[in-house]
Amino acid sequence: MIILGIDTSCDDTGVGIVRDGLVIANVVASQTALHQQYGGVMPEQASREHLEVIDYVLEQALEQAKIKLSAVDVVAATYGPGLVGTLLVGLSYAKTLAWGLEKPFIPVHHLEGHIASCASSDLQPPFLCLIASGGHTSLFNVKDWGHYQELGRTLDDAAGEAFDKVARLLGLGFPGGPALSKAAEQGNDSAYIFPIALKGQEGFDFSFSGLKTAVAQLLQKTPNATIHDVAASFEKTVVESLIVVTKRAAQMTGHRHLVVAGGVAANQRLRQRFKDIGLITHFPPLSLATDNGAMIALAAQFHMEHNPNYWQIDASPYLPLDTSLRSSASS
Ligand code: KG4
Ligand code: ZN
Repeated sequence: MIILGIDTSCDDTGVGIVRDGLVIANVVASQTALHQQYGGVMPEQASREHLEVIDYVLEQALEQAKIKLSAVDVVAATYGPGLVGTLLVGLSYAKTLAWGLEKPFIPVHHLEGHIASCASSDLQPPFLCLIASGGHTSLFNVKDWGHYQELGRTLDDAAGEAFDKVARLLGLGFPGGPALSKAAEQGNDSAYIFPIALKGQEGFDFSFSGLKTAVAQLLQKTPNATIHDVAASFEKTVVESLIVVTKRAAQMTGHRHLVVAGGVAANQRLRQRFKDIGLITHFPPLSLATDNGAMIALAAQFHMEHNPNYWQIDASPYLPLDTSLRSSASS
């Protein structure tokens, strides 16, 4: 079974190919250079850029997988959440491919893609999943593949968004996560104490906007603060904030296995610390942590047995993962 997956939910054009559960191609065209000048993603330009490069990215993926397009059995694409214009590019492209090939088409929820980025024979539901990305920070109780219960989410900024905003405050460029964590490598993570939001409270929500404000205030009061030290102290606080809530959720659900996925899961400090919290923690390979098409193909596997007919499903910029794809699909 060969599944082709496409993700154009934001500023990366991702095409991946999975054969019998194994990733055999994963090509991502990043738009970082285009959006860097604005310090954030420009939605209209992002959509146009996806259109420009998607044929080429598909060609590269087929070459990497050493297969012809006609060998593809199923085509999958992200249908939400994300930027409506960029979603539409990948979704329409995927439907057209599937229609032309006379093969099934499967729409995939972007967050299910992140959860599936860790799919392997060593990981069986139920488990706990923390997704920390640029647009989302949520904890899910994964009851089974395809059955997700959101336990909590960020009340304001996502963890990756906090990295991006603080990196901008520190003059480190866009996207901020990788740049900030590089700067943090040479810093003292105890130089500054920042607050961990909602620490003493119950529940499984997160909050990062107060942390960003605390960094901004520090920089105003202490203009000579060492960037490396601020970066390291900030990074440590984000990671500890994620750990506090995740441990609480593990206690409540009793799950021993934890998946940490999404762009922030590429962070090395996070990977180190999460290994040490008394759970069996699974991370995606680095190439599958940030947005990509292979994770969409991996997630599509879990919707194959229902004889899907999802042609009429449209792009949905706001889409909770608890919503069952099966019940919302028109056939
Ligand atoms: O999952 P993703 O590619 O896109 C969304 O679905 O949002 O995540 C992108 C986010 C950005 O905010 C980026 O700054 C962050 O992931 N990120 C990182 C690292 N690499 C990417 N954050 C911290 N450390 C990293 N190494
Ligand atoms: Zn994502």
